[in-house]
Amino acid sequence: MTRILMVCLGNICRSPLAHGILESKLNSSEFYVDSAGTAAYHVGHQPDRRSIKIAKNNGIDISHQMARQFKVSDFDNFDFIYAMDSSNYTNIVSLARNNSDIEKVKLFLEENPNIFNKNVPDPYYGDMSDFEHVFDLIEATSLIIARRFLP
Ligand code: 4NP
Repeated sequence: MTRILMVCLGNICRSPLAHGILESKLNSSEFYVDSAGTAAYHVGHQPDRRSIKIAKNNGIDISHQMARQFKVSDFDNFDFIYAMDSSNYTNIVSLARNNSDIEKVKLFLEENPNIFNKNVPDPYYGDMSDFEHVFDLIEATSLIIARRFLP
């Protein structure tokens, strides 16, 4: 089983989308995908209604997800840890215990050579068009990641 964790700040806007989108492209018997936030503001909450809506419009149900905070044991439980932006990356790496922990952490958009700005923008204070942009970035990049895992 390959285990992949998507991480943003609140775990209600970006990482739930990355979680749901990548999960939809991989075989669940071989891949486990989860998400978490570096902050605890929204622990126990459903994803933001705008993330739920943009996912649903594209055939993906993320409404059952529940926000949780990133924890040190995630370094043991996941093979790949993808940060949505450089601030999330710094926050995750600050909890690393050794080089092996740090090596698991990568900026999600580093996987997409077509995107110059490697930060998935935080849409929380934005509108539906910001969520659409985030969806498109994550969809294109998840396709690249999923293709790499295909036989
Ligand atoms: P996310 O977006 O990190 O993509 O889940 C945010 C959600 C909540 C807040 C900030 C960003 N907040 O400040 O509550």
